[in-house]
Amino acid sequence: MDIIKTKAQMQEWSKKRQRESKTICFVPTMGYLHKGHISLMEKGKSLCDTLVVSIFVNPTQFGPNEDLASYPSDIENDLALAEKAGVTAVFLPTKDHIYPENFQTEINLKSLPNFLCGKFRPIHFSGVATVVTKLFNIVMPDIAVFGQKDYQQLQIIRQLTLDLDFDVKIVAGPIIREKDGLAMSSRNAYLSASQKKSALSLSKSLHLARELIAKGEKNLVTIRNQIEAFICTFPETTIEYVSFCDPETLEDTDSIENQILLALAVKVGKTRLIDNALIDPAQ
Ligand code: PAF
Repeated sequence: MDIIKTKAQMQEWSKKRQRESKTICFVPTMGYLHKGHISLMEKGKSLCDTLVVSIFVNPTQFGPNEDLASYPSDIENDLALAEKAGVTAVFLPTKDHIYPENFQTEINLKSLPNFLCGKFRPIHFSGVATVVTKLFNIVMPDIAVFGQKDYQQLQIIRQLTLDLDFDVKIVAGPIIREKDGLAMSSRNAYLSASQKKSALSLSKSLHLARELIAKGEKNLVTIRNQIEAFICTFPETTIEYVSFCDPETLEDTDSIENQILLALAVKVGKTRLIDNALIDPAQ
């Protein structure tokens, strides 16, 4: 497994693969790898000849009061996991390398960041869109895999790829859960044993919504109220949002006619967790 630390080396590596007619799949991460990341890597490996994983805790996607300083990190373990997963190259840039002095450009989308997490994390998606644009230009992949847990991020990346004419196919990887239903996330490392129990309120809410819809409940406001009341029964939870929305535009919906996205953000203690499910009311 190659470990690459500079943009020039990364671009050279990718150009060499292109000259050899090898396809490149890319999984961008912020490290502290877990089974969710590994499943994206496995998907990536099955789609291309080579697999590049980046590990970079991108400072521009963290707000001033967020967890940039405490974001978990274990590079040694990440490299061992990546090697085991069959990754061909890991790109490990430094902050100064990605954002040199006098860096000025930001990528902002007009609509998709205005909903869900974007309402609570105003600079987050601009940071994500900017760094992913840079990473696409540096790694030059044929395919990039993003997890569905960050559904809004996935939609934003799909849109920016289209808008900026990147010749990159965006592939979605399913949400990977612990046995008890908790969606895997690097941030789960912050949770105490009792907080982990409260964190189950998210996946259980998705289940509750499905159950209510299956029983014939058609009023999404009623379902949302029930979910909110349910989450509040778990200690240390603070709801940021419970939203039923259009899976394409992310605009709120009150119609149960077509497929809908149920997306949640809940703080458990100080840890902000998200989860979501696509629900097909007809089924
Ligand atoms: O999903 C993540 O880990 C990050 O938002 C990403 C896509 C690597 C950009 O920093």
